[in-house]
Amino acid sequence: MNKNIVCIGAGYIGGPTMAVIAKKNPGRKVVVVDINAERIAAWNSPDFALPIYEPGLEEVVREVRGKNLFFSTDIESAVKECDIVFVGVNTPTKMFGRGAGRASDLQYWEATAREIKNFAECDKIVIEKSTLPVRTAAAMEAILNDHAEHKFTVLSNPEFLAEGTAIKDLLEPDRVLIGGPSTPDGEAAVSELVGIYNGEGGGWVPRERILTTNVWSAELTKLAANAFLAQRVSSINAIAGLCEATGADVDEVARVIGADRRIGPKFLKAGPGFGGSCFKKDVLNLVYLCETFGLHTAAEYWSGVIKMNNHQQERIVSRLLAKMFNTIAGKKIALFGFAFKADTGDTRETPAGTVARLLAEERARLVVTDPKALVNARRDLAGIDGVSYEQDEYKAAEGADAVVVMTDWRHYPSLDWRRIYDSMRKPALVFDTRNCLDAAALEAIGFSVLNIGK
Ligand code: NAD
Ligand code: UGA
Repeated sequence: MNKNIVCIGAGYIGGPTMAVIAKKNPGRKVVVVDINAERIAAWNSPDFALPIYEPGLEEVVREVRGKNLFFSTDIESAVKECDIVFVGVNTPTKMFGRGAGRASDLQYWEATAREIKNFAECDKIVIEKSTLPVRTAAAMEAILNDHAEHKFTVLSNPEFLAEGTAIKDLLEPDRVLIGGPSTPDGEAAVSELVGIYNGEGGGWVPRERILTTNVWSAELTKLAANAFLAQRVSSINAIAGLCEATGADVDEVARVIGADRRIGPKFLKAGPGFGGSCFKKDVLNLVYLCETFGLHTAAEYWSGVIKMNNHQQERIVSRLLAKMFNTIAGKKIALFGFAFKADTGDTRETPAGTVARLLAEERARLVVTDPKALVNARRDLAGIDGVSYEQDEYKAAEGADAVVVMTDWRHYPSLDWRRIYDSMRKPALVFDTRNCLDAAALEAIGFSVLNIGK
């Protein structure tokens, strides 16, 4: 018998992941629940105005919503009716008490454990989808199985999708990771979860791509994988500064480093530093874990990844200031892009936010433009003086002294840069922090151009 699924948390992880699981498991009912009624209403909106932007997501939701995928705020009924519970709630960095600024804030997580326990009317498999500190499953099990009428088996199934490519990553994952206990119940639960990815319809994720480990390895692997990716970005950005000082070109250096098959070409793009809800949070969490276990040198090593990332955004502002005659007070600067990367409206920890705040401290007049992230930008920068918002790039650049490209939106290179130049105050500067524009062509128009690592 196919067992029904509920996912607690209808965010960037819960929504897309469950939409794909529903699509690939038409025989299972999948319900995604959340305490945020506004978010659930958006998932259910008749015109598919979904709460997050992700290429390909709307098509999948259109295909399965109302058939075997449902969104609801009724957590109690959903938990009662299911056999399998995924937990995909947020696990932000704790901002108070012990471990403030580094440890994970597990209050939302623990609240869900208690909800599951209170509402359950049968045995359940509980699956960690959120990214969690190592040994969280033990805490979860302790809460769930303490004087419980039903049996709960906790697995770790961390998610590796990246925003902007979530649907593709879910449909064709490099690997699916399942951590479970080596007990008869644990093994049965793992095989049930393998069945969700590999069962119905003969295998959406090939069996050899489903990797099983013990629970602690799975929890730690997720943190380690994000730390390795973040470290590559900080490494190439550390080389970028040296390129600027010496006349080397970071894109050339990255191309040649990446041609070594042991290193590979991905995640070697120098830029404004990494953003997104997870890299910083997960590296900080790793630092905290290292410190907790007395591994201070390891903690310091991983802290360096964050330090380098912060430095990269400060460097952008210093270089801009130097190029603009050491004063930007009252000058108009257009930020092209506010999302932390292209193809998403997500602005959590976006480098553009840090740069905007630093420029506002210098009393620049900022205009922010972004095709998908203006609503979030307004919310993030609320209360900062001198910021305006403009959907149209040409209007944003009118009368500006500088355009600073913060996000590598695909259409930016094909904008009419001559038209932009003509409308700007001279000398007109473009700081392309993503190295995505044709610098020589911009210089030929008359712009002065700054890049990262060149
Ligand atoms: P999110 O903030 O977009 O979504 C989390 C949702 O959980 C929110 O809508 C919130 O209202 C809901 N929630 C919180 N407490 C709840 C409760 N008690 N009951 C019901 N709902 C509750 O966060 P996200 O980006 O989806 O991330 C969730 C987790 O997934 C994090 O641990 C994150 O590290 C991990 N993760 C995220 C990504 C990503 O691309 N965003 C990728 C891999 C892993
Ligand atoms: C990242 C990981 O790639 C996912 O595997 C993971 O599941 C996810 O975090 C998570 O745990 O939340 P995401 O943050 O969505 O995904 O996006 P990435 O493509 O990893 O980009 C992260 C940041 O690094 C972006 O700001 C991006 O612009 C920057 N980046 C990335 C670079 O500056 N250079 C690069 O070469 C690659």
